[in-house]
Amino acid sequence: MTLIAGNWKMFKGPGEAGAFCRALRAADLPDGVDVVVAPPFVSLAEAVQALAGTEIGVFAQNCHWEEEGAFTGEVSAPMLQELGVYGTIVGHSERRQWFGETDAIVTRRVHHCLEFGLHVIACIGETAEERDKGATHQVLRRQVASLEPDPNLVIAYEPVWAIGTGKTATPAMAQEAHETIKDLIDVPMLYGGSVKPENAAELLAQPAIDGALVGGASLDVDTFAAICRAAS
Ligand code: 13P
Repeated sequence: MTLIAGNWKMFKGPGEAGAFCRALRAADLPDGVDVVVAPPFVSLAEAVQALAGTEIGVFAQNCHWEEEGAFTGEVSAPMLQELGVYGTIVGHSERRQWFGETDAIVTRRVHHCLEFGLHVIACIGETAEERDKGATHQVLRRQVASLEPDPNLVIAYEPVWAIGTGKTATPAMAQEAHETIKDLIDVPMLYGGSVKPENAAELLAQPAIDGALVGGASLDVDTFAAICRAAS
């Protein structure tokens, strides 16, 4: 399996999301590559509608751990499923950095989503400081410690220092981190952090890299489609 997922972060409201998805349906996408887009909550319905009848999946960027309740600003797995959303990203480093999400919170979210049958891309990765201290493997081990393999679980290794910085982990660095994680939990693994059409093929050629989680370069249809083709 090769999975290419576009994390739009806080970009593209419903209008832009619909236009992007209609263009993506018409784009030249390769066979044998699973393609997913993750728009902001407000654009999910538009994306689901625009991609109906295609193999392209729509993911959310986060999901709460309860079915319903007094949790202002949150949405649950059954609510996403009612919209036709196929899965969700959980534990992105931006959630950890700006919204105080801990490994414990991320684990609760992952378990809830899997229980309801949503597919999950759970994100992990070390900061520059942690890498400089030689703590990368320790951090990765801690972040996956409470996760168990599940047919609907994929892990994304996103070194925080490589996100939106133009700095990419070398294919060898990414391969090494993926091997460390796969020894602990045997699930498909995506690499994320400044993936572009120019570096995608080399990263995806690594045996322990099963796909990519793409941020900035997923916002333009032609660039995103080029990454999908580089993966085939
Ligand atoms: P960039 O591709 O913009 O570095 O972002 C990576 C990312 O955070 C995807 O979730």
